Amino acid sequence: MANSFDVIVLGGGPAGYVCAIRCAQLGLQTAVVEQDKLGGVCVNIGCIPTKALLHSAYIAHLLKESKDFGVEAGEVKTDYGVAMKRSRRVADQNSKGVEFLMKKHKITVVRGTGVLQPGKKVKVGSDVYEAKKAVVIATGSRVKGIPQIGLEINKTTVISSDEALLMEKIPATLAIIGAGAVGMEFADIFNAFGVKVTIIEALPRILPLEDAEASDAVGKSYRKRGIEVIAGAKVTKATVAKDKVTLDVEAGGEKKQIVAAAVLMAAGRAVNIENVGLKECGIQLTERGFIKVDKNLQTSTAGYYAIGDVAGPPMLAHKGSREGVVVAEIIAGQKPHSIKYDNVPSVTYCHPEVASIGMTEDQCKEKKLDYVAGKFPFSANGRARGTGETEGFVKILRDKKYGEILGAHIVGPSAYELVAEVVAAMEAEATVETLISTIHAHPTLYESLGEAFNAVYGLAINA
Ligand code: NAI
Repeated sequence: MANSFDVIVLGGGPAGYVCAIRCAQLGLQTAVVEQDKLGGVCVNIGCIPTKALLHSAYIAHLLKESKDFGVEAGEVKTDYGVAMKRSRRVADQNSKGVEFLMKKHKITVVRGTGVLQPGKKVKVGSDVYEAKKAVVIATGSRVKGIPQIGLEINKTTVISSDEALLMEKIPATLAIIGAGAVGMEFADIFNAFGVKVTIIEALPRILPLEDAEASDAVGKSYRKRGIEVIAGAKVTKATVAKDKVTLDVEAGGEKKQIVAAAVLMAAGRAVNIENVGLKECGIQLTERGFIKVDKNLQTSTAGYYAIGDVAGPPMLAHKGSREGVVVAEIIAGQKPHSIKYDNVPSVTYCHPEVASIGMTEDQCKEKKLDYVAGKFPFSANGRARGTGETEGFVKILRDKKYGEILGAHIVGPSAYELVAEVVAAMEAEATVETLISTIHAHPTLYESLGEAFNAVYGLAINA
């Protein structure tokens, strides 16, 4: 039957398309239903174009400092429109890459909005597709506004990352609400392109999920670059005019008004669970509004699985991709290693970059763990001195009794790559002692990791 497959994946983002490929690799006849471009938010309007823009911001930053390095590039001019168009080309290339992969693996791509039906069926327009083995829900998430205080996304003065990634001309002033990954990354980009940025965070510190020392280091760096950082602040009211937004903000017992040409909403995302047909299929939600899944990522209805953002936090592409692989292997009858959610790395690609895995120091304290921290600053790393990027540090948290790595927190150059050593070590359940005896090439940034592991015993060499 033309409309019958072993597996139907609803959504072609980093969770869905990866799941489809692994299904196909394991010999399952697979279809992906996608209403927009393949690659989802990550590829088209999230991770990938943002990183292209962050690189433009980084080049601007390097050029401004290049004289110190004996290179004069003349007056530095920035053009967001040009950077944006380049980022679009990068995103399109990636999306086309996913299309190619679908063809390569003989995965059928059904274009349109899919709605689940009982009996492992998916309706797309007037067509009904049937899955013999399983349906995988990977419909992702979207930006949300805060309508209760008058901040509904209007695409001109109140924007989301979607608009920020597509605009040709940028506002002179921008207030960003939310200092999670989205807010912090766009603050970095727009600051580099000459926008006066104010970032407002409701919780007591920016990047609230990161280690407190990491938040402090990034906050300091942002302020030095002229980004206004306001934490512990509540936006109580927003007045939206044609060409500006006025925010009433309460912070530290004081009230103030922030006026900006535009507001970027970066206060979290909402999962795409409406109009998907969940209720009709008896698929239950958790108290927090994610799709309820068991340890195999199967929903409350047999034969329906959920992966990625809809299956709960962390809402990160790489977590979704891993879930995609695991679910595909389960459907194919294999027994994959279950996902250790404590070992999902997190990266914010602002400058200085922030990467982490495991527990923060505050979490170790809350859990009353007997731990010790080892810290090494990039200012003492020869390679970092060479590039002039000496902000930040590596911090390792070690369980005192067993030597287990409880957490790692890196702020600084290439943090996003450096964290990989700890991610692999934690997955392999390597101890701090194993990493102390690991030889780190010289001169590298990752020597700082070796030093931080030694610093746990107060034995860092270069600090
Ligand atoms: P988020 O949940 O990470 O951060 C939102 C921030 O907004 C929080 O710190 C929250 O306390 C704050 N907030 C909420 N309401 C507020 C209010 N009324 N006033 C001031 N602050 C308020 O969400 P974000 O940054 O929008 O990202 C969405 C998802 O996408 C997250 O799960 C994030 O991890 C993921 N993402 C990951 C990236 C990466 O891995 N580099 C990049 C971008 C997004």
